[in-house]
Amino acid sequence: MIYLDSAATSFLKPPCVAQAVFEAMNTLGSPGRGAHPLTLAASRTVWECREAVAQLLGAADPARVCFTPNSTAALNTAICGLFGPGDHVITTAVEHNSVLRPLYRLEERGLELTILPADARGMICCEDFARALRPNTRGVVCNHASNVTGNVLDVERIGAFCREHGVYFVVDVSQSAGVLEVNQQAMGASVVCFTGHKGLLGPQGTGGLCVAPNVTLRPLVVGGSGVHSYDRRHPAQLPEGLEAGTLNAHGLAGLLAGVRYIQEQGREELYHREMELSSAFIQGVRKVRGVTLYGDVDAPERTAVVSFNLGEEDAGVVADVLAQEFGICTRAGAHCAPLIHEALGTSRQGAVRVSFSHMNTMEEVKRAVEAVEELARRL
Ligand code: ALA
Repeated sequence: MIYLDSAATSFLKPPCVAQAVFEAMNTLGSPGRGAHPLTLAASRTVWECREAVAQLLGAADPARVCFTPNSTAALNTAICGLFGPGDHVITTAVEHNSVLRPLYRLEERGLELTILPADARGMICCEDFARALRPNTRGVVCNHASNVTGNVLDVERIGAFCREHGVYFVVDVSQSAGVLEVNQQAMGASVVCFTGHKGLLGPQGTGGLCVAPNVTLRPLVVGGSGVHSYDRRHPAQLPEGLEAGTLNAHGLAGLLAGVRYIQEQGREELYHREMELSSAFIQGVRKVRGVTLYGDVDAPERTAVVSFNLGEEDAGVVADVLAQEFGICTRAGAHCAPLIHEALGTSRQGAVRVSFSHMNTMEEVKRAVEAVEELARRL
């Protein structure tokens, strides 16, 4: 099997991650609940994970790294915690449904929403943010890297725009954390939402949000917090304020191992390796007759995510044949990002997405290119 679906989940993980989860299940109690050795061990692991994530993502304060089950939960927390009826929010057409759907739901309750269009390569024009500004604009929500094209948004520039106009900036780093440089403080992001199971190499069921020191969010979920149990209200202090219920300490032990692995190996080195593989794939398939590549594949900064189609063939059919005949795992369809497919003109056909890990090999790229060549010959 050749696994080329790391944008969905990084199935190829260093062994230390599964080992850490296994050890955690045998050694950790409930984090933040009580003071016996097993709960203390769990609290320590969770805190170390906060520190490691804060360091990797350039967050100012580990105590403001709050864990959630995934980036969808983190984005819902950020979006619903900051915005409400009467507010105007700017987002883009390259967003995932984890951004769009919470915003659409708020729109039904009176939020004003502007969705900046993407061009045919899936690019957003940064000047459009200024053109969309209104007196009641409260924030901008956008991703750092697209899960469909691998295109990267200039988040430092958008962050500077948000700072200049005094509006919140929520950044979805689901596709860039552990891959590109993410520095919350440099980008001036109010909230950075991440998932643990993609570039951070952790297990599924981990993720969270880094909340900047000057930002207060209404919690989405309230309940057990391990502190101030006699209060009727959920505590406001972070991280507990945004973490109702028992945390996934076992998963966070794995996430900690994943983040430490990235720090030991060097994020840039890992990124460089996966970009070499992705570039070799692009160079290999771009000359194949019938192949259409999407996104700005020649951009100097992008992620190792490549979407393509073969003639008019349905993307789902191509992905099935790649999996069943060639043992190549890809993801086809709309990738939970409908508006970018509209911009790319692939709403009907979908697109086949390949996404690389630093653990893939050039031999696997060669076999994937040969598979695409073979399918193109059958068109
Ligand atoms: N959002 C994930 C993807 O792009 C699951 O495949």
